[in-house]
Amino acid sequence: MKIAVFSARAYDRQFMNAANAMAGHQLCFFDASLERDTCALAAGHEVVCIFVNDTADAFVLEALASGGTRLVALRCTGFNNVDLKAAARLGLKVVRVVSYSPYSVAEHAVALLLTINRKIHRAYNRTRDSNFELDGLMGFDLYGKTVAVIGTGRIGRVFAKIMRGFGCEVLGHDKYPSTEFEALGARYADLAEIGAKADILSLHCPLTPETHHIVNAEMLTRLKRGALLINTSRGGLVQTEAVVEALKSGQLGGLALDVYEQEADLFYRDWSSTVVSDDVFERLLSFPNVIVTGHQAFFTREAISTICQTTIDSVSEFASGRALTNELCLASPDHEP
Ligand code: NAI
Repeated sequence: MKIAVFSARAYDRQFMNAANAMAGHQLCFFDASLERDTCALAAGHEVVCIFVNDTADAFVLEALASGGTRLVALRCTGFNNVDLKAAARLGLKVVRVVSYSPYSVAEHAVALLLTINRKIHRAYNRTRDSNFELDGLMGFDLYGKTVAVIGTGRIGRVFAKIMRGFGCEVLGHDKYPSTEFEALGARYADLAEIGAKADILSLHCPLTPETHHIVNAEMLTRLKRGALLINTSRGGLVQTEAVVEALKSGQLGGLALDVYEQEADLFYRDWSSTVVSDDVFERLLSFPNVIVTGHQAFFTREAISTICQTTIDSVSEFASGRALTNELCLASPDHEP
């Protein structure tokens, strides 16, 4: 099948080509992201393969369908950028990579937590400048602290397990509680208890209308003063302006982000020789107790290899008319059993 691969970076080409070696599909790589101005590139391709910041809204999907596309394959887990209702109406199938490596994202969340708590980002810069002062670098023991996990699915549970290993008490919040989470020695709590007890809040639920800005001004005032917030899920879960205010007042003790609500305009590109015009983002970067990585939590060899292989396997299933193992269903889009 002819596959138009959008937002293709060097590593996408390398791993997609390797995964496709046996299957023999025809891969056409485009550096461009999929959006209204670029969807014409997909004309004549039965499959369009996209990533987290590509746009597959109704307009784009209509253009794809009229250009002959029949399958949209996401090289990621989250699917908030796809209008599933429009896809169903147009008869377009949508597949994603349901699970590749929850460890990749959970471990990155832990890396961010350790960095922001122990100020590794500041220590790294200091010691390279031969400054070995410790002022401003004090953190706290994770042992005995309370960690709240919002979204106790695949990634949230791996994160919870690691935190249990540190000797933390783990509280969870999820629309669909799981016994696997409780089996880790963790327990569920409502947002009021989480606000009162959590020293660390880590977000692992999908972005849906219900979870949009789940961390807002009200939620932030409920948190223990000085709590740390980690977001490796989706930027839209956090109301950034409210977080900036909470950082300024000291209500929030630190913030570590791998995702940002307006990241589509910023991430996966080099802006180092220009002026970034997003003032809210620049304000975030000005805080010593904020660290940002550019949506790289998934970025391990194991994860990319599985993502590409699963994507190619989904296309092969589609080509041979088999049931699609990783098809996205409209029925319960915020929860996969
Ligand atoms: P999952 O589907 O296994 O778990 C998500 C959990 O969130 C489920 O248990 C679900 O019941 C829960 N949930 C849904 N709605 C909720 C609500 N309103 N309130 C509380 N909980 C709710 O998904 P998985 O694999 O753990 O991924 C979680 C998220 O991580 C993805 O949706 C994606 O946005 C993000 N992600 C980020 C990556 C990165 O590189 N930064 C890479 C992969 C995923």
